Amino acid sequence: MHAAYPALRLRRTRAAGWSRRLHAEHILTPADLIWPMFVTDGEQVEEPIATLPGVSRWSIDLAVARAKEAHDLGIPCLALFPNTPRERRSDDAAEALNPDNLICRATRAIKDAVPDIGILTDVALDPYTAHGHDGVIDTAGYVRNDDTVELLVGQSLNQARAGADIIAPSDMMDGRVGAIRAALERDSHVNVQIMAYAAKYASAYYGPFRDAVGTRGLLKGDKTTYQMDPSNREEALREVSLDLAEGADSVMVKPGLPYLDIVRAVKDAFAVPVFAYQVSGEYAMIEAAVAAGAADRDAMVLETLLAFKRAGCAGVLTYHAVHAARLLGA
Ligand code: PBG
Repeated sequence: MHAAYPALRLRRTRAAGWSRRLHAEHILTPADLIWPMFVTDGEQVEEPIATLPGVSRWSIDLAVARAKEAHDLGIPCLALFPNTPRERRSDDAAEALNPDNLICRATRAIKDAVPDIGILTDVALDPYTAHGHDGVIDTAGYVRNDDTVELLVGQSLNQARAGADIIAPSDMMDGRVGAIRAALERDSHVNVQIMAYAAKYASAYYGPFRDAVGTRGLLKGDKTTYQMDPSNREEALREVSLDLAEGADSVMVKPGLPYLDIVRAVKDAFAVPVFAYQVSGEYAMIEAAVAAGAADRDAMVLETLLAFKRAGCAGVLTYHAVHAARLLGA
């Protein structure tokens, strides 16, 4: 017998599996996941993306099949991104307003086949501009805020009319959430939600995404005049508060894992639904670690996604959504 013993043994509740399950403070389910998907032209086309191993662009017919699969796994929502052919990109991003662009066709096809899955569409002009910026630029290359917002309003209406359930502005222009909300109301889309990429940072983690949507080679300069400086936390709270005041239903923090402090700060300050985007570079880092034999994919994916829940997220956009949903369903 030991004379002195710990007054409290925190290992006691960890001693058996049933007890660990009983005491778990957070839980991850497939309903927490939003699956970002890249669509491209053609039929029966699957184009693997070299910098995002395991992720492909799909033609709409294959995207529909994957949407059914995601729905069967309990994933509630998809986020669609287009790989716009070079000849349909222009300085004024006119293709963003085309009711038959890839995103609108994909949205209609998926909603037709799987009406019960939510469709989130990204609002920003970068998949449509010849220069890869999220808005229209002046002669000095500066993205013009108010002219861009006008186009984003048109893009949002175009997506809502095609059946999008959540409009997600990722452009970081000032005033766009309010302008989009007002236009949606006027156009009778009262139940179309806005999930604002409220705190979106100018990040080095977006590289593989730019390959996936075909803008890496086109982008001149960087996005630091509109996306946030990674050093700023208070500014994220101001961005969130503005977007909420303008009518956002939920807000997003992006990237994900390196910015969990921002997720927690936003959740504590506003008590609103907060989402995070585990972006392409984060996915690529996990896959690179797995390929190097340095990590167990299944364990790392589930631990990482659970961390988002613990930080206060209502859900996570992740390229690992299908993999994670399969693990969680097993
Ligand atoms: C476009 C947009 C980007 C991402 C989502 N929407 C790229 C960017 O801002 O350059 C990145 C997503 C990812 O890296 O997975 N505005």
